[in-house]
Amino acid sequence: MAVERGKPVKKGKREKIWTLVKEALDLTQARKVLVVPCAESGKKSIWFLPEIYALGAQVVGADLSPSMLHKEWGWLASEVPLVVCDIRSLPFKDGTFDLVMNQRFICHFTEEFRTKALSEMRRVTSGFLFIHYESNLTFKYLSRKLREKLGLRKRPPRAFHGGDFDWKSTKHPLGHVKLGNNEIKRELKKGGFQVVKVKPLFPLLSDRWFYLAKKM
Ligand SMILES: C[S@@+](CC[C@H](N)C(=O)[O-])C[C@H]1O[C@@H](n2cnc3c(N)ncnc32)[C@H](O)[C@@H]1O
Repeated sequence: MAVERGKPVKKGKREKIWTLVKEALDLTQARKVLVVPCAESGKKSIWFLPEIYALGAQVVGADLSPSMLHKEWGWLASEVPLVVCDIRSLPFKDGTFDLVMNQRFICHFTEEFRTKALSEMRRVTSGFLFIHYESNLTFKYLSRKLREKLGLRKRPPRAFHGGDFDWKSTKHPLGHVKLGNNEIKRELKKGGFQVVKVKPLFPLLSDRWFYLAKKM
């Protein structure tokens, strides 16, 4: 296998996310994996294209931004197909992949956008979706809400960084959408997925929750 340039998975957050990704790959026995999106996180890259490829799976990376896609993964293009596309219109046939992976993404968008993205990811997977949502079950969120209620905190608008794409029309007005576990499960069910496993990255400390869901 010719992949050599992948940064080793580091300790801490990234290592924990890799554990969850690996667990999803083991549970689903996925051989064909789509990672969408797969760019814009630089040194802390949590898309794991080289790592998944090194496990012997066929992996495809897709992202809307050609510049970010090629900046991050150009070096891997001879091994891993890189596809520039919009998640709302994926250029793959129905059921092409066993597993679709989606991180650092869905929480940025409106419900309408999320519904379209889920529907496309459902169409191209024959089996599973591994998706990261932002949870409202954290000490930080609860304390922020309390301070807001008490008038001690006025929420500054969140900046969205990166991407040579027009995200403004689809972005959620709150910047990041944080949902409860039941709301997330309902959203996935409405999108045609049955949740198989839920894992918070660090319970109550991190808002990152990972859902492994099966196509219904
Ligand atoms: C949404 S951004 C993440 C932003 C934020 N800074 C973070 O890391 O949490 C992740 C990637 O999504 C890609 N992206 C944005 N809109 C997309 C779309 N409609 N379809 C596919 N990829 C998209 C961007 O090009 C970027 O590489």
